[in-house]
Order: sequence, then C-alpha cells, then structure tokens
Amino acid sequence: MPLAFPLRGVRVELRPFEVTDLEAAHRVYGDAEVMRLVGEGGPVGREETAAMIAGYRDHQARHGFAFWAVLERGTGEVIGDAGLEVTAEGVELGYTLARSWWGRGLATEAARMCVDAAFGPLALSQLVAVADARNPASAHVLAKLGFREDRLVSAYGRPHRRFTMVR
Ligand SMILES: CC(C)(COP(=O)(O)OP(=O)(O)OC[C@H]1O[C@@H](n2cnc3c(N)ncnc32)[C@H](O)[C@@H]1OP(=O)(O)O)[C@@H](O)C(=O)NCCC(=O)NCCS
Repeated sequence: MPLAFPLRGVRVELRPFEVTDLEAAHRVYGDAEVMRLVGEGGPVGREETAAMIAGYRDHQARHGFAFWAVLERGTGEVIGDAGLEVTAEGVELGYTLARSWWGRGLATEAARMCVDAAFGPLALSQLVAVADARNPASAHVLAKLGFREDRLVSAYGRPHRRFTMVR
C-alpha cells in the first residue's frame, strides 16, 4: 500500500525530500560532528547534499520509500533524515539529525515510524541497519526499537555493528 505523506508522529513528521530542502539538509550534512561516523565519515559539500536529495527523490519515485526529511512539528523545521534504502544487504534503516536536536528521543521516534511503515503499509519482511562500532547512541536507538545485533561487518572501510529486525 502506498504511504500517505506526511507520516505524522507526536513530535516529528516525515515526508519525501523536496529540492527546496537544500539549505536545511546542508546544515546537517555539512556539519563535521554530525557526519563523523556516517558514510565516508566527514561533512559533504553543498553540491553533494544536492545530489543526495536528488538520489532520495529518485529512490522514492522508484520504490515508494526512501530517506525522508524529518520535520520537528513544533517549528516545522527540517532537522535531518530518517528512512529506508534498498542496498545489497536488503532494505536498510538509517537516520541522521542535526546536532542541536540530539538527546531528546527524536531519532528513536522517527526511526520507529520508519519501522512501522516498513512492516505495515510497505509490507517488508526484514530490515537491516548498521552503526559504526564507535557510535553507541545509534546502536542504542536500534536496540530500543527491538533490532537484534547480528555481527561485525566492514562498511566504508570501518567496522560497523550490523542489526536486523524481522516482522
Ligand atoms: C545517532 C543519532 C541519530 C541519535 O539521535 P537522538 O535523537 O539523540 O537519539 P535518541 O535520543 O532517540 O536516542 C539516543 C539514545 O542513545 C543514548 N546515548 C547517547 N549517547 C550515548 C553513548 N555515548 N553511549 C550509549 N548510549 C548513548 C541516549 O541516552 C538515548 O537513549 P535513552 O533514550 O535510553 O536515554 C544522532 O546522534 C545523530 O544524528 N548522530 C549523527 C549521525 C549518525 O550517527 N547517524 C546514525 C548513523 S548509523
């Protein structure tokens, strides 16, 4: 069943990225501290942020899901991403929030909404997630959601803890 956007949570809502989200997204992806343990492990330039948004939009069009913009409902601000991506490992859950919003349970809320969408309307049967071995906060989000830790894998040349959840 296709998802009806925005997906509304208590404090955040999720919707596909729009081209006009560039500035807000770049405040997140251009921050070295936010990106230290994500992807290649460093901040990206504005053009790469634009390419990431284009990639998410393309993924959404092809699969009906993607990494979505996370909006804080009180301010309407785009504060990061959370969503689902097709990878060689299966459908992977990911999330990244601007530093000023950390530590309030918002990643857990957004990630839980992704899991509910995956196992509900999207009818997926399994999700995968990886967290850099030096990222206990991310691993803790996954544990709170009920993911099971599986094994250590290498991603982007760094050790990552792999987690799975089955419906
Ligand atoms: C990881 C990230 C998404 C967490 O976002 P958040 O909104 O702060 O997460 P939440 O508040 O929902 O949950 C974090 C949990 O980890 C815990 N935590 C935070 N730092 C921790 C640490 N160093 N060790 C162990 N647990 C830690 C928090 O206490 C909280 O658990 P609690 O609710 O039981 O108290 C955020 O820090 C982020 O965007 N980091 C940069 C990008 C990133 O690493 N993304 C994940 C890539 S795999």
